[in-house]
Amino acid sequence: MAHISIFVGSVNGGAERLSDDIAKTIEQVGHTAVVITEASLDDIKNASHILIVTSTTGQGDVPSNLAGLYFAMNSTSPMLTGKPFGVIAMGDRCYGETFCGAGRSFDELLRDLQAKPVGNRLEIDASENFEPWPVTEPWLKLWLTKLPE
Ligand SMILES: Cc1cc2nc3c(=O)[nH]c(=O)nc-3n(C[C@H](O)[C@H](O)[C@H](O)COP(=O)(O)O)c2cc1C
Repeated sequence: MAHISIFVGSVNGGAERLSDDIAKTIEQVGHTAVVITEASLDDIKNASHILIVTSTTGQGDVPSNLAGLYFAMNSTSPMLTGKPFGVIAMGDRCYGETFCGAGRSFDELLRDLQAKPVGNRLEIDASENFEPWPVTEPWLKLWLTKLPE
């Protein structure tokens, strides 16, 4: 059984609602999950399994409720060696080059801090997938099978 910390970045609540569905599914398959909407550096340092679920705001920016964690990680570089993580990035292709920028930035930063990517980042395009759950569910189920205990 794994305990998964879900770090949420959301402006209008979409990523937060998705995180609640994700947590329920994680628990249905026998793991535990906590959804963190105002994360501190200690939350990520103490997490055993990390799942980032973030939308993108501005021009490729991390939503303000998750930006503090991003900047703290970027400036203090805590080593997260071997910690398994996944990234679900929500965005909209209409924004062009900044598509899913927040999720991409987190993915890159976690790799720099030596955390261990499990599977590939999921990128959800709001212009194509009005409802994020149908694309998230199969990704999540596969991700959970790859997750080390
Ligand atoms: C002001 C604003 C700026 C946005 N900027 C981007 C962007 O740069 N890149 C992107 O992929 N999506 C961008 N989006 C789209 C959102 O990330 C997308 O709609 C997401 O599903 C919203 O999730 P939320 O409800 O959790 O905030 C932007 C949306 C808004 C309203």
